[in-house]
Amino acid sequence: MFAQRKMACVTGGTGYVASLLIKYLLEKGYVVNTTARNPDNQKKMSHLLDLQKCGDLKIFKADMAEEGSFDSAIAGCDVVFHLATPVHFASEDPENDMIKPATKGTLDILRACKESKTVKRVVLTSSAATVSINKLDGKGLVMDEECWTDVEFLASEKPPTWGYPASKTLAETAAWTFAKENEIDLITVIPSLVAGPSLTPDVPSSICLALSMLTGNEFLMKGLIGMQMLSGSISITHVEDVVRAHLFLAETASAAGRYICCNYNTSVPELAKFLKERYPQYEIPTEFGEVPSEAKLIISSEKLKKEGFTFKYGIQEIYDESVEYLKTTGILKK
Ligand SMILES: NC(=O)c1ccc[n+]([C@@H]2O[C@H](COP(=O)([O-])OP(=O)(O)OC[C@H]3O[C@@H](n4cnc5c(N)ncnc54)[C@H](OP(=O)(O)O)[C@@H]3O)[C@@H](O)[C@H]2O)c1
Repeated sequence: MFAQRKMACVTGGTGYVASLLIKYLLEKGYVVNTTARNPDNQKKMSHLLDLQKCGDLKIFKADMAEEGSFDSAIAGCDVVFHLATPVHFASEDPENDMIKPATKGTLDILRACKESKTVKRVVLTSSAATVSINKLDGKGLVMDEECWTDVEFLASEKPPTWGYPASKTLAETAAWTFAKENEIDLITVIPSLVAGPSLTPDVPSSICLALSMLTGNEFLMKGLIGMQMLSGSISITHVEDVVRAHLFLAETASAAGRYICCNYNTSVPELAKFLKERYPQYEIPTEFGEVPSEAKLIISSEKLKKEGFTFKYGIQEIYDESVEYLKTTGILKK
């Protein structure tokens, strides 16, 4: 007798992290259902169509703004990885563009998981932006899974891009309440900024942000500085480690609760120094005005490590691989 193959649903399969997760799941022998808002868009779907050659992958149409649209993709699955999230950093209406669809959509997905009666665990991808944004002063702060971003501060001060961290924090909080009330085995993975090569036809924005000092993109460099000013650090992890953490947490029976997935904490000035030494062929900025030379805080992955997870990629590998990847796309000069 052969054991039955496990079936997983991955929401938002066209995305950077999700598409690599699908590849790993197929390589491990999972049957995979994934979702996209526009499965007929051949260009956006090209990498998923390629992945269909690696194993049993079905693509469903689903949108977090439409109630019930994930039901068929989730039906019959053992595990659901919920990665889809609305991202509109420049939105003038974050409430309707991000906060409502992220929160309502996540709750609708959890409802579908409960009603499926087959889903044993839900792994929800949250973000370090749900942990570290606060009004605390000082240095050397250690942020762990007990820490939550101050949503009242975000909603009242409305710093640039505030809608995204607010949407991720409110969606994760709502998910925990629903999971507790409905006895769902929920795990949240909390990645920091993600970099490393991508399968997607378009270059993911997080890689462009992480490498902005190498590409010289002024707008994104300001974004990187804004990230340190708002979140207290530049914290970064390789996409493969983020995907490995999702799989590890889905398959580790003892895992429970939130897990930060972050392998390196730094500041913009420290990162610039590292990049200047490692890639002397690129012009890296050296002046950062008011930006603190040291990060205010670190985002700690001690809980994930104690559970038995080991990171494979340090800061050098993250940047070496991202640099090589951006060269292949033409964004970075060879
Ligand atoms: N990349 C990072 O640095 C980073 C860091 C921390 C946490 N995360 C989290 O990790 C997850 C994946 O991030 P990523 O960078 O891989 O994202 P991504 O490449 O931008 O992908 C996001 C996905 O969400 C889907 N999506 C957007 N709005 C949707 C909606 N209304 N309904 C259904 N699907 C929708 C998009 O699918 P379609 O447009 O094809 O439908 C897209 O595939 C997200 O939850 C993100 O918050 C990412």
